[in-house]
Amino acid sequence: MSGAETSSGFSPMPENALYRNKKLYISSDHAGFDLKEYVKDFLAQSGQQIEDLGPEDTQSVDYPDYGIKLALALTEDPEGIGILVCGTGIGMSMVVNRFPRIRGALCHEIYTAKMSRAHNDANVLILGGRVIGKGLAEDIVSTWLDTPFEGGRHQRRVDKIESKNAC
Ligand code: RB5
Repeated sequence: MSGAETSSGFSPMPENALYRNKKLYISSDHAGFDLKEYVKDFLAQSGQQIEDLGPEDTQSVDYPDYGIKLALALTEDPEGIGILVCGTGIGMSMVVNRFPRIRGALCHEIYTAKMSRAHNDANVLILGGRVIGKGLAEDIVSTWLDTPFEGGRHQRRVDKIESKNAC
């Protein structure tokens, strides 16, 4: 945990928050819409730069369309980061991890969120809107944004993921 106040406390931006300075793209399907809106609002209050790629309401949509939209946004803006929300997080995870240079992490608790940054340098966080509540989502998102990548041996391993795309 960053030490910042979370769970509806609307944290101020920590000084070492590398990911807080990046543009964050966010998207969902209908099942993730409510949590997307909640996460978007609480991050906007902490000063995070956010682009919402939709949808704009809870009308039924297909999660691959929005996962692909976010993946293409990160292809255009490789320095950006992303958050995707569907019902379980599984569909969005399957979609976004098919794209080069995207390392999407489906996280339903704090430890995985932290390690997905520290060891895997995840650049997309995926949440299950039907799995976790808003308070936990806040803590997961804040932890994820505030945990730096450790590099070193983890960089070598992350590089090997990308080298698979050259096969
Ligand atoms: C939508 O009903 C649901 O299937 C979707 O949000 C997601 O959970 C898929 O993985």
